[in-house]
Amino acid sequence: MKKTLLVVATVLSLSVSCTNAKTQNTVEQPMLKLSNGIEMPQFGIGTFMMPSNEVCKDAVLTALRAGYRHIDTAHAYQDEQGVGEAVREFCAESGVPRSEIWVTSKLWPNEYSDPTAIDNMLQRLGLDYIDLVYPHQPVGDVKGVWHNLENAVRQGKVRCLGLSNFEVEGAEGIYRWCVDSTDIKPVILQMECHPYAQRIAQSDQIKKDGMVVECWYPLGGAASRGALFQDPTIKSIAEAHNVTPAQIIIAWHVQEGHSVIPGATDHGYIQENIDALKIKLTDDEMAKMRDLNKEQRFYNMKLEDTARFCGVPLPDQGSNVSREEFQKAMEDELNSKK
Ligand SMILES: NC(=O)c1ccc[n+]([C@@H]2O[C@H](COP(=O)([O-])OP(=O)(O)OC[C@H]3O[C@@H](n4cnc5c(N)ncnc54)[C@H](OP(=O)(O)O)[C@@H]3O)[C@@H](O)[C@H]2O)c1
Repeated sequence: MKKTLLVVATVLSLSVSCTNAKTQNTVEQPMLKLSNGIEMPQFGIGTFMMPSNEVCKDAVLTALRAGYRHIDTAHAYQDEQGVGEAVREFCAESGVPRSEIWVTSKLWPNEYSDPTAIDNMLQRLGLDYIDLVYPHQPVGDVKGVWHNLENAVRQGKVRCLGLSNFEVEGAEGIYRWCVDSTDIKPVILQMECHPYAQRIAQSDQIKKDGMVVECWYPLGGAASRGALFQDPTIKSIAEAHNVTPAQIIIAWHVQEGHSVIPGATDHGYIQENIDALKIKLTDDEMAKMRDLNKEQRFYNMKLEDTARFCGVPLPDQGSNVSREEFQKAMEDELNSKK
């Protein structure tokens, strides 16, 4: 049990110029231009906490058929295989080229020093290249992993590099090294960000350093227990547009210029979330949404705890914690945060 909890903690401590591309389902897909000149679909689906590769494949395939063109996964989510199967099946059935789909994944700290880690990731995904790779946490051999990632970019295996959770307190030094001292710069930073934790100071710095902000827990995450959906301001704006609170939150993210990757397995939510791209909030509504900020994160693990736990192997790396135990432990950890 102790070991199970260790794994949990590792996983949990585990922002632009815009153009639009039309998907086959005529949903306008806003694009973000990254500092390396590459354009990324601003909106996508995240696959954290999906219970199996089968559920993940179903969710991602449903999303791609609904017009999504961006998927965010991670080695730690243990569902890259489901993502890759969905992408390959969708490309084959629709004729949409792989180049129109954005696939992001993340390396776990215990594989940062491994020069074969990206080849292993490509194998799990069953893809020829990955659009964006993040080191998942700002601990361990970050300089080593950056060297390996730069080589992967030079070899055409990876297109873009980003930073995940590198905005946290205590990671300032390694954040600056990644921004100031690398040959291939990070173009994006992924962090918890939603109306109750807008991360204003962090966002300002990230943008100043030439990166886009990408938001995890964009709806508050499972740990929030739907708190944002009950917010009176968000509910009243939703009523005015005759849409759901979740759609208002997604519209707010998009208008703020965030990349936003809400996780969903429910087919209704998957459709609802992409339909939010049709919503246009007024300046007054945007101001009301900004006023909700209280910098209240729903996930609050300290960096030293992250560091302590990140050496634990993932289930497919020889850990004696099974995939099911790993998922259950993540759920228990989220439940303990209510
Ligand atoms: N870098 C990191 O450390 C890190 C950490 C956490 C997350 N992430 C990434 O960010 C993505 C988004 O975060 P998240 O998935 O944890 O949280 P989230 O997107 O804020 O919330 C997901 C939860 O909201 C529910 N939901 C989705 N759409 C809804 C709607 N329209 N109405 C009501 N409920 C809705 C989902 O339910 P169902 O599942 O039942 O459909 C799920 O329980 C992740 O999937 C992952 O890719 C990264």
